[in-house]
Parts: sequence; C-alpha cells; structure tokens
Amino acid sequence: MAIFRKPQPPAPLVAAPPDEATAIPATREELAVLHDPQSIIAEQYRRLRNSILTLNPDRASRTILMTSATRGEGKSVATLNLALSLVESPRTRVIVLDADVRDPSVEHYLELPRRQGITELLRGEIPLKAAVRRTSIKNLDIIAAGERPLNPTEIMNLDRIKSILLTLKREYDYVLLDTPPALTLNDPSMLGAISDGIILVVRLGETPRHMVEQAQRILETLGGNILGLCLTGATASKKAAYGPY
Ligand SMILES: Nc1ncnc2c1ncn2[C@@H]1O[C@H](COP(=O)(O)OP(=O)(O)O)[C@@H](O)[C@H]1O
Ligand SMILES: [Mg+2]
Repeated sequence: MAIFRKPQPPAPLVAAPPDEATAIPATREELAVLHDPQSIIAEQYRRLRNSILTLNPDRASRTILMTSATRGEGKSVATLNLALSLVESPRTRVIVLDADVRDPSVEHYLELPRRQGITELLRGEIPLKAAVRRTSIKNLDIIAAGERPLNPTEIMNLDRIKSILLTLKREYDYVLLDTPPALTLNDPSMLGAISDGIILVVRLGETPRHMVEQAQRILETLGGNILGLCLTGATASKKAAYGPY
C-alpha cells in the first residue's frame, strides 16, 4: 500500500548558534584561494584584491557590491575568493553579506547549515549581532540570506540597509555584498547606489557584450561606482577557467 504524504513546507530557519560556523572547515574547491593557494586563480584573486587596496590608500572601511549581468556567472564564488584574499592581508577584517535572498549560496559554498540572516534582520526579527556569524577563517564573518521572503523586493528597505552597512563598516575593513544579477532585478542597482564600489563579474565567452554594457548602464544610472570587472572563464583549461582577470 502506498502512503502519500502532503508535501511539508520547509521548516523555518533558526538563529545560528554562536560560533557554530567556526568549527566547520571550508573545503570546497571553488574556494581557490583556500583550496589551492598557489594556483593561478588564487593569484588572480590576490591581484584583484591588490587593485582594491591600491584604490583605497587611506584604508577607509569600504562596502563593495558584487554583481553580474546574468545568473551563474560566478558572483558568489568570486565574492568569497575576494574575501579570502582580503583576509590574507594583515589585520583586515571582512564580512560577506548574502544579499541574494532569492538564490542564496554563501552558506552553500562554505558548507554551512542554512540559518537566519538578512531577511530576518531586515524584518526586525533579529538584531544584527544574531545575524553575524564568525567562520573557520580568521577575520572572515558572514551574514547569510535567511528565509526566502514571499516578496523579496519588499524587505529591501534602503534606509535600514544603509544603517546596517554603516554599523558594519565600524567593525570591518571590507563589507562585501553578494547580490542577484543586475539585469534580472533592481536590487544590485539600488544597493550599488549605497555601496562605495561595484565589481561586475563577467563570464567570458558566455555573457554577450551588450548585456554587460547594459548592466553597467543600469548600475551607473542610479549612481553606482563601478570599480572594475572580474572576468571568469577566460581560458580553455578547466582549472584556470574560473579565475578573475
Ligand atoms: N572556481 C570554480 N571552480 C569550479 N566551479 C566554479 C568556480 N567558480 C564558479 N564555478 C561554478 O559556476 C557556477 C556559478 O557560480 P556562482 O558563483 O554560484 O554564480 P552566481 O553567484 O553568479 O550565480 C557554479 O556551479 C559554480 O560551481
Ligand atoms: Mg550567487
């Protein structure tokens, strides 16, 4: 006899136990800076980091938004690798915010369980302190995406986000925001307008040039400051295929 069960709604996310993530090592191979620190890819992320440090000679705290024209160009992987290379420089504290609440993946790449995060924070259900999670990597903290809201656009309260970013900048040298694709959603251009800089991730050979230019225009229309491109997938060799250039 077959037993049919009604599909259950996913269990609601819980708050992250303090320091839970510090005991979970990051081992995924996409995190080249950690997984293969001598690789060309890792070196290229360090070059991207060096350009960012050079653009910021007085070492002011900065918020940097990572986006791309379309999905799957490597934003999340690039955000984490950039964060990993930033924390390699001495006394540099970094926090990564998973602002892609529709398609979150920061926890996925760090192999962490899904917990509450930005959604709950923006709804005022948890304080900032409860959303920030230390990781197993020294000086690298994250805020996960949290529950997928029914109406993600509604929770994007820019004043609230601005004040959260300001608070984080007092504590961290770099606040990196992983966001949805700029051609699909408004979030990146809105968030870009309140960030200090934007890095546009582009998968070479896949994203047509006009789409990249369109994304650039959209981001700049609202006053976003594009610092540069992070090109992924430039070479035929599989290993080097995801590095930034
Ligand atoms: N360095 C890498 N090594 C292997 N796969 C990668 C690497 N960078 C990205 N990818 C793959 O590309 C896909 C998209 O990457 P992701 O960063 O999640 O894109 P986005 O955040 O832009 O949607 C994923 O399947 C990921 O595994
Ligand atoms: Mg992503």
